[in-house]
Amino acid sequence: MKIARFSRVGFILAAAGSAVGLGNIWKFPYIAGEYGGGAFVLVYLITVMLIGFSVMIAELLIGYLGRSDAASSFVKISSTHKSFWLAGAIMAMAGLLIMTFYSVVIGWILNYIFVALTSLPASVDEAKSVFTQMIDSSILTQIFFHTVAFVLISAVVARGIKGGIERLNMVLMPLLFVIVGGMFLYALSLDGFSKAVDFMFMPDWSKLNSEAFVTAVGHAFFTLSLGMGALLTYAASLPKNSNLVSNTLIVVALDTGIALVAGLMLFTFLYEYGAEPSSGPGLVFISLPAVFYEMGTIGTVFAVLFFFALAFAGLTSAVSLVEPMVQIGIDKFKMSRLKSSISMGLFFYLIGIVVILSGSSEFKETLTWGGKNLFDWIDFITASIMLPLGGLMMAIFVGFVMRRSQVEAVLKPQLGRFFEIWYFSLRFIAPAALFVVALHLLGVA
Ligand code: PFF
Repeated sequence: MKIARFSRVGFILAAAGSAVGLGNIWKFPYIAGEYGGGAFVLVYLITVMLIGFSVMIAELLIGYLGRSDAASSFVKISSTHKSFWLAGAIMAMAGLLIMTFYSVVIGWILNYIFVALTSLPASVDEAKSVFTQMIDSSILTQIFFHTVAFVLISAVVARGIKGGIERLNMVLMPLLFVIVGGMFLYALSLDGFSKAVDFMFMPDWSKLNSEAFVTAVGHAFFTLSLGMGALLTYAASLPKNSNLVSNTLIVVALDTGIALVAGLMLFTFLYEYGAEPSSGPGLVFISLPAVFYEMGTIGTVFAVLFFFALAFAGLTSAVSLVEPMVQIGIDKFKMSRLKSSISMGLFFYLIGIVVILSGSSEFKETLTWGGKNLFDWIDFITASIMLPLGGLMMAIFVGFVMRRSQVEAVLKPQLGRFFEIWYFSLRFIAPAALFVVALHLLGVA
């Protein structure tokens, strides 16, 4: 079947839309805060440079040459290694698993657009109680907004690559850039900015324990949307003669740029108004709304714009988390796009409800094991284990299973004399680094 292709700009915005997500604006600042800032940020940046970049080129290559879904593309490229089909399918499943909490958080954000519009909490304590009340006892409100997210995401994916995903990204991504850019410019004018720079870029190595290290590497994969078949699936719809290397450069630059800009902006606001940078997942839902309140009228405008931007970032990533399995449903199980979108949507929607329950005071105990509730477990298993493992599979596939001549044919003209460096880094540096992560994980688990 002929697949509709992205336009060049459409692909870049869709891939950037996938990468720039809640990971950049919600997760990155709070984990950087939890692990003490600078040292963590540095490990994350080094991972992006050393591993993220080379694995992204490999992931795009598999989709571009395979021209199929995340599982079948491996087999199309190398029919002698059919077991990679399973690797691809597991990678795609990780996307639906991530969606079980991703959609819940998008729901919180949608709810907070209303909080920002109606009444911002007047102090950190009040903000804490608004957030805790939502998590602890407003199960129905959460389910309502999770349902809205599910419907929006499924409706876009059901319209396909061109009419749904590309269109969504063409509208929302520029808006996101304008909002985050504008707020960053304002942050630049505040005194808190230099403190934010210190916090994010002055490494305090004593804070970098093995858990922080694994989290930083896992986050590099998560934020770049690697190891899950999302970019692979998008790349299957790239126009002919696309330059995978320049696409990768742009997407990595945008993703890293937005994470740093969003981080600096948030920490500037927090320092300016004396709030704590290390308050965990509640950072943008607790400390930030209280800070916006302090800012007065402009703060209310910022709050509304900020939560809209966050929702845009979340939605454009969410469609890429669902699309790989939707495509597998279409190709492999011969479902219509609509049926596949609804089926995959229901999967994350229903488990998402259990994730909501796992945060509520009523069901928390039942759904907590070893200090982590269901939400935390899924986050940990997907970001820290499944995505790096998916990355490893793709590095091995492109580095060792595919013939060098096959890889060279596409990438030598694009990488020029950097080809050797990239090839070496994909075959040896990325697997070695991921091996170290695995060792750390075994020690942590
Ligand atoms: N990159 C997205 C974020 O930073 O929020 C999350 C994500 C999307 C992860 C797609 C993996 C993926 F395949």
